[in-house]
Amino acid sequence: SGLVVAMDGPSGSGKSSVSRGVARALGLRYLDTGAMYRAMTWWMLQQGVDLADPAAIAARSGEPSIVSGTDPEGPTIQVDGVDVGGPIREAEVTGAVSAVAAVPEVRARLVALQRELAGAGDIVVEGRDIGSVVCPDAAVKVYLTASAEARARRRSAELTGSTVEAQQADMARRDTLDSTRKTDPLSMADGAVELDTTALNLEEVIAEVLRLVKE
Ligand code: ADP
Ligand code: CDP
Repeated sequence: SGLVVAMDGPSGSGKSSVSRGVARALGLRYLDTGAMYRAMTWWMLQQGVDLADPAAIAARSGEPSIVSGTDPEGPTIQVDGVDVGGPIREAEVTGAVSAVAAVPEVRARLVALQRELAGAGDIVVEGRDIGSVVCPDAAVKVYLTASAEARARRRSAELTGSTVEAQQADMARRDTLDSTRKTDPLSMADGAVELDTTALNLEEVIAEVLRLVKE
């Protein structure tokens, strides 16, 4: 089977933009697993599921159909046939997603979908547990980091109406939840190469990952 590149790291470290750039350069597919957790969260909010109740989330987690399009030129995400690419980036979903992603039944279902999509290879897969859980046999594993301030600055440049300070506080809260949950916490996988992108631009980071792939 073909090449798998696993890309993990905290929020705003550059996973999506670097993964898409690498996939385009190499003619690979691209899978944004965070979008799948966001899509599940969007559906739970739509359904009025009590997100403070992990048992309620678990009980409903098998219901929505979640379909990911893997073209790096225009990745898509659909829930029950509806394109949710816009709404899953809104603050309501961002604020709730780490609680939904901490529920083991949610993870089991989405990890199975992710393994199906990644199974054929020729793909860059991006998330929090790709090198450790979803694709532990990936030929290349990258762990992207950047200072908390740089990550918050990047994210607030994308979103209107949010200060760097507010952004940094929200990211810190989410990173803590993602790193301390019991099931598949964010961590550096065995065999991963850590890449600190604080002082690098996007092109430099993509070039560095392409160099790792060619090694
Ligand atoms: P993640 O997927 O890890 O949350 P993104 O890829 O969405 O991160 O990056 C967040 C923002 O930061 C994007 O606007 C992206 O263009 C920008 N960015 C990513 N990597 C860098 C970098 N090395 N230097 C400057 N800006 C970057
Ligand atoms: O774009 P950003 O880095 O802020 O987040 P994302 O990649 O869209 O992921 C959103 C959330 O989904 C994360 O904060 C995690 O709670 C969860 N997630 C996860 O648990 N496992 C993954 N493989 C990917 C995302």
